[in-house]
Amino acid sequence: MNARPTIPGYTYGGAAVPSAPISLDEFELLKKTVLFTDDDVKALQQSKAVVQGQVEAILDVWYGFVGSNPHLLQTFTRLSDAQPDMDYLGAVRKRFSQWILDTASGQYDQAWLDYQFEIGRRHHRTGKNATDHVAAVPHIPFRYIPALLYPVTATLRPFLAKQGHSQAEVGAMHQAWIKSVLLQVILWSHPYVKEGDY
Ligand code: HEM
Repeated sequence: MNARPTIPGYTYGGAAVPSAPISLDEFELLKKTVLFTDDDVKALQQSKAVVQGQVEAILDVWYGFVGSNPHLLQTFTRLSDAQPDMDYLGAVRKRFSQWILDTASGQYDQAWLDYQFEIGRRHHRTGKNATDHVAAVPHIPFRYIPALLYPVTATLRPFLAKQGHSQAEVGAMHQAWIKSVLLQVILWSHPYVKEGDY
């Protein structure tokens, strides 16, 4: 997987991303635990063609949700005046849009696994704000991260249904997305878990 120099800070595949603290074999066991199979990879890849042209519309819905919930929007606010940092929101949105496509690619190899732990750090005080060099709220409380899985995946479903696929195909793509986001949220949780307990 190559680095994506066109998206500032999206260092997926870059040499500077530390290795994941779990192995690919351990990740396989995690996949097995959430019933994530090769059929899910196929369903995700089918979803890629569906979401590709709708990325901005999907992000409008997700950003709309965050923006209309002050307790979530708060994490994008500046420490100096408690106002949302629009440049920060915009920079993260670009990485979010690539994340949609990378999630749908279903190529969950070592570079992908390593980058998931980087995304985890970027939500946690150990890495938040550093990518965009912002002086924003320093940390995202853990409890909201698994909670956001539901609105993110529930609001995705109508977009998956927009290109004439059967109900069964839409259902399979949706389930695959839920499982993938669940896996990622579990990987991102690492810095929040007490040393030795992960
Ligand atoms: C299922 C849950 C979530 C998903 C799928 C998600 C997705 C993402 C993605 C893809 C990025 C960009 C990662 C990158 O730098 O490449 C990001 C960053 C960010 N997210 Fe989340 N996120 C979730 C939960 C949350 C929650 C609950 C909040 C706030 C309450 C939040 C606030 C942020 C912020 C502030 C950043 C920028 C972090 C930085 O400084 O680099 N996220 N998120």
